[in-house]
Order: sequence, then structure tokens, then C-alpha cells
Amino acid sequence: MTTAARPRRLHLNVNVNSSGRHPASWRVQPDPLGFLDLGYFEEIGRLAERGRLDAVFFSDGFDHSETRPWQALDPFVPLTAVARVTEHVGLVATQSSSFQHPYNIARSTASLDLVSGGRAAWNVVATRAPEAARLFGLDDLPDHDERYARAEEAVRVVLALWESWEPGALVADQASGTFTDPARIHPVAHDGTHFRVHGPLNVPRSPQGRPVLLQAGGSPQGTALAARYADAVFSVSHTLPAAQGFYRTVKSAAAGHGRSPDQVVVLPGLFPVLGGTEAEARERKAWLDGVAGFEGELESLSGTLGLEPGDLHLDRPLPWDLLERAGGRGRSLGFAAAILDLASREDLTVRQLLERNPNGHRSLVGTPEQVADDVEAWFTGRGADGFNLNVDAFPDGLTAIVDGLVPELQRRGLFRTEYEGTTLRSHLGLEEPGHERAGVA
Ligand SMILES: Cc1cc2nc3c(=O)[nH]c(=O)nc-3n(C[C@H](O)[C@H](O)[C@H](O)COP(=O)(O)O)c2cc1C
Repeated sequence: MTTAARPRRLHLNVNVNSSGRHPASWRVQPDPLGFLDLGYFEEIGRLAERGRLDAVFFSDGFDHSETRPWQALDPFVPLTAVARVTEHVGLVATQSSSFQHPYNIARSTASLDLVSGGRAAWNVVATRAPEAARLFGLDDLPDHDERYARAEEAVRVVLALWESWEPGALVADQASGTFTDPARIHPVAHDGTHFRVHGPLNVPRSPQGRPVLLQAGGSPQGTALAARYADAVFSVSHTLPAAQGFYRTVKSAAAGHGRSPDQVVVLPGLFPVLGGTEAEARERKAWLDGVAGFEGELESLSGTLGLEPGDLHLDRPLPWDLLERAGGRGRSLGFAAAILDLASREDLTVRQLLERNPNGHRSLVGTPEQVADDVEAWFTGRGADGFNLNVDAFPDGLTAIVDGLVPELQRRGLFRTEYEGTTLRSHLGLEEPGHERAGVA
């Protein structure tokens, strides 16, 4: 499919982070144990599809929380359930290049891609949590450069495995008895620094060629990985100039690799809290803030910043001296840079910081029109091709997006009113990949 003639269209993805982004989300939901229930995720998937969203996204960090729901289920389990009750919405599964083997990543994601009719994506993350290292037999986390070197090699192996089946490799001709065309199946022969992989994948090509590759990590190494290989990138930016800078960097680096800049879709995070009027939106935010304070968020914020939970105090500024000494170990450079920039620009205490963006993404409180104004400015100003939406509390926060924000964006001609294709690649305006890489990692 060629995308050249298409007008530029906004993309919207929803981050299905258990109960929602707000720490109070689980306390206001009909069922606080929904995060363990496939019916809960199916409802979210149906809602996302009713809103014509590009995809639902499951993060994964191998962690749990003692204070609220977390990503307990392996992402492929809820995503397969969503695939069964929807026909269009894309399905993004996070897999760690630091701890998961590329063959397993390639196979699981290709399986979801095939059974969903070409709707799957791999969100590649160079996991930063030291606790995760200990789950996988390491005493400590490899350093940032080492994790990204491994990520790059893992991505090359996964892409080669995905492309090991050419179109037409699966024949299944009952009359002649020909099941496959072996000349179109290309074994990978990879002897690298981190992985040795010999042989083809055992999952044939899906209707979108291969799964979409998403990258989430805003350090220079993460950005370089995205520019070279990714079809889309999740980013963190709090101001339009910062977003425009990141957008230009990724697109021009992609062009430097001989890629078309519109084949890397840039999706910053956005956390809207919506209301029919501005006062109603503020009331909803105040209500959620009142149900649960931010004490429970200190652990996650300190981890993101490479600190210990005891280093942060709600009514004090960030401990800038400790942050200087903490260096980069264990922190997400992309998230940390965005959070530190916001805190220093606006001189925020930890509590104010958490009220503004309880986990790193830019937050807006307002009516669908007000949020749409902002979305439009970022989209037309080339700070974003779309957004990775964080929902305050599922399911009603997503209902407010689907029934309020989406129609407003549709009225402005920014967002699709119907899906134009059935694959995630077609929703994102991505060309179907060839199989040039077949067998070569
Ligand atoms: C929207 C978004 C989602 C992310 N999801 C995950 C995730 O599910 N699991 C994870 O380990 N890291 C996730 N991260 C990325 C990590 O921060 C990143 O892979 C790694 O820690 C290094 O990040 P850096 O390049 O920013 O230093 C996500 C980042 C963004 C922006």
C-alpha cells in the first residue's frame, strides 16, 4: 500500500496501565481487581476501537506495587483477549531487550500479529529496573550503553526473524500437496556479541508483513535506535519547543539512515483529565487527588530519577545535590530529563510535581475543546504525529476521551472517523516492509 497521497493524520494510542495513570484510579473503579480480569481489558479494547484509536499499549517492567494495581499479566494474554473482541485496533506489547531473548520476542509478537490479522507491535525497552536484573540471574543491571548495545543487536535479530518468511512462502495447496515454498523461507545466521541465532522463525508472515516496531526510551542511545529501526517512537516532552526539537532530531536522523521521515511516527505521552466544562475537569482532578495522596508515587518517581524513596519529601523541592551525584544508573534518561526540566523551570516541590505529572507525562486538565487546541498546536507545529494517551482512571477516563476528545478532533478534520485499513501499519500510515533483510541480522 502506498501512503504518499494521504493527508497527514493524527494518531492516538492508549496506554493501558492497569487501573489508570492517577494513583486514585483503583479506588474509584467498579472493580479494584479489574487489572487481573480479561473482561476488564476487553472492555477497554472495545472502547478504544469505538474511538477509532490506533492502538492499545501494554507496558511491562516485571515489577509489582504494594500500593496500587500494576502490570501483573504478561502483555500477550490481555492483548490476545482484546484481539478476539475487536477487528481493527492495534495491539502493542512491551518486551525487554535486556532480559528477553530475541527468538522468544520475535515468536510471541509474530504469533499475536498473525492471529490478529496484522495488528501487533513490539515496544522495545532497555529495561532500567535493577530488581528486574535479579529476576533474570544477574546481580546488577548492565550499564546504559551495554543495555542499548544489546537492544540494537536484539532488534536486528528480531527483524531478521520476522522477515525470514517471504510472501508466498506458505502455499498450503491441497491439490498438489505443496505446503510451503522452501526457497522463500530464509534462515537467519547470526553470530553476534550477545546472541547466536541460527534458523528461521516458525511463524509465517502476517497480513502487515511483520509487526510494527515501537521504541520507548529518550536517551541519545534510545533516540538513535528509534531513528535507525523503529516505525514509531514513544517520547516524553513537556513543552512544544522541546517536543519540536525531539521530533526534528528523530526525523532527520531517520533520513540520515536513508529512511523516509514520515515512516517514523513520533508519539509523546499526554495525560488529559477531561470535563464538560473547565470547572468540571478541575473538580474531577481535585476529586481524584483527594481520594489518594501522592505518598504512594514516591517510590516510582524516585526509581525514575535514580534515587531511593527516602530521598524525596512531598513538601520539599527535589534533592538537586543528590540528583547530581546519582548519575545515570537505573534511571530513564528520557523521563528524568523531562521531569527535571519541568521541576526546575517551574520551581516545583515534589508534591506539585506529582500533581502536575504523576509519572512523567505531560498533563492537561480541561474541556475536550481545550485539550484539542493543544493537541492541534502540537500536531500542526510538528512536535508530534500523535499522542500516547494516559487515562486518569479506567474505564470512564477513556470513555471521556472517546466520547469527548475524539469527536472534537474529528470535527477539526484531524482524526479519522473510520479505520481505512485493518492492520496497525495501515492505521499508522506505514508502508508494508519488504523482505530485503531476509536471513540477515
Ligand atoms: C511511553 C513510554 C513507555 C515506556 N514503557 C516502558 C516499559 O513498559 N517497560 C520498561 O522497562 N521501560 C519502558 N519505558 C522506557 C524506559 O524508560 C527505557 O526503555 C529505558 O529505561 C531506558 O530509557 P532511556 O533511553 O530514556 O534512558 C517507556 C518509556 C516511554 C516514554
